[in-house]
Amino acid sequence: MKVLANDGISQSGIDALEKAGAEVITNTVAQEQLANYLNENNFDVILVRSATTVRKDLIDACPGLKIIGRGGVGMDNIDVEYAREKGIHVINTPAASSSSVAELVFAHLFGGVRYLHDSNRNMPLEGDTKFKALKKNYAKGMELRGKTLGIIGFGRIGQEVAKIGLGLGMNVIASDIYVPQATIKVEFYDGQHMNFDIKTESLDSVLKQSDFVTVHVPAQKDYIIGKAQFDMMKDGVGVINAARGGVIDEVELINAMESNKIAFAGLDTFEAEPTPAVQVLMHGRISLTPHIGAATMEAQDRIGTELASQIISILKPA
Ligand SMILES: NC(=O)c1ccc[n+]([C@@H]2O[C@H](COP(=O)([O-])OP(=O)(O)OC[C@H]3O[C@@H](n4cnc5c(N)ncnc54)[C@H](O)[C@@H]3O)[C@@H](O)[C@H]2O)c1
Repeated sequence: MKVLANDGISQSGIDALEKAGAEVITNTVAQEQLANYLNENNFDVILVRSATTVRKDLIDACPGLKIIGRGGVGMDNIDVEYAREKGIHVINTPAASSSSVAELVFAHLFGGVRYLHDSNRNMPLEGDTKFKALKKNYAKGMELRGKTLGIIGFGRIGQEVAKIGLGLGMNVIASDIYVPQATIKVEFYDGQHMNFDIKTESLDSVLKQSDFVTVHVPAQKDYIIGKAQFDMMKDGVGVINAARGGVIDEVELINAMESNKIAFAGLDTFEAEPTPAVQVLMHGRISLTPHIGAATMEAQDRIGTELASQIISILKPA
């Protein structure tokens, strides 16, 4: 069994595949040379993340392919239905990075309520000359404990976010068009756990009650948070988007920040990736990360080992 991990794979994933007798190549082959490379070297499996695309033309050109694997969730870069029609297995690792994304949401939230994003910009410039003025600027921080966290999209990541929020003593409410309720198991380091049943509510109800709003829906046709939704929120809320660029209207976000409706925002994903709008990048009250929600060592390890075990179970001799 030959596996090309064109966008890389964790060492733990390579180890698991090699233990099962697979040959794993981690060369990054340019998109236009991919078909030739796969055919000439008789690869059975191609693994990608978001960089490499696997479209109809590549699928048609490589009849030897048995599995297309995506390390992560979204499969927008793969013609999934077409591949499946041709009898190719298409696999991904939807749950492997959920807790990493959820932790990044709280990195933005903790940073936002204490102005860390702005303080980290200004301390290197003025920390030695305007220390007291900066101290005053950042003196009206807030605690997350006891506040209401509104989660829009109560799937894998939304529910991981809920666990952390509950653990912090937040009032966690959620909205989801398909999930009516979920039991959230909050696990502690010593094996104890507590279950919380959360019934989802309408989007409007969540927006009206929340001190912080975090969005965890898949890519949508339209914005899920636009002007009407910002208008519904309480004054001074924090808004996080670590889901997909385009689920929040960034122009309306900036407008809502200018009118102080929104106190701060945390963005890991952007409408115009990989060239986010300058107005977003330069805004002093937006905490910014370059789409790194899943980018932890632990998530990459889980992605690698989950892909390996799926490949092994599909291709193991009957
Ligand atoms: N920042 C990152 O690096 C990163 C990493 C992984 C995933 N993501 C993104 O996070 C998002 C959520 O991922 P997930 O694994 O939790 O997905 P999921 O499918 O488990 O959950 C998404 C939930 O959203 C709900 N939903 C769909 N449309 C909705 C709508 N219009 N209103 C309300 N709810 C709606 C679905 O019913 C589902 O429960 C995806 O957009 C994914 O691409 C981002």
